[in-house]
Amino acid sequence: MGFDQYHEPPEELPAETRTFARLCASLTEEAEAIGWYEQRLAVEQDPEAHAVMSDAVGEEYKHFAMDLEFLLRKKPKWRQIAEGVLFQDGDIVEHGEAAEAAAGDEGGGSGGGGGAYDGSLGIGSLKGATL
Ligand SMILES: [Fe+2]
Repeated sequence: MGFDQYHEPPEELPAETRTFARLCASLTEEAEAIGWYEQRLAVEQDPEAHAVMSDAVGEEYKHFAMDLEFLLRKKPKWRQIAEGVLFQDGDIVEHGEAAEAAAGDEGGGSGGGGGAYDGSLGIGSLKGATL
């Protein structure tokens, strides 16, 4: 069993943070599975095998969505930014920039994840700063 999702000693992390890290790892795994199925489906010639894998990738979509929803419920700032980007028509990058700016320093990234650190490197907070 690997513990690659931890970048700090697990025994020093609060249980909430370990759970959050597990769900982040799960989200990554679901995204990988979706990508692998996409490739398999692109090359599969057998219609029955294609149908089986097509059904399976739907499960991965569901797993990804559930993992993401769990994580977004724990991080209000992440949720706020996601709401500004997801399911919106138009320019994705523009929506992302606007959502990030709207979120600002409000909403906190640490809600429910344990600890004050929100996982951000703080790069976004340098926007607009004069050097
Ligand atoms: Fe899955």
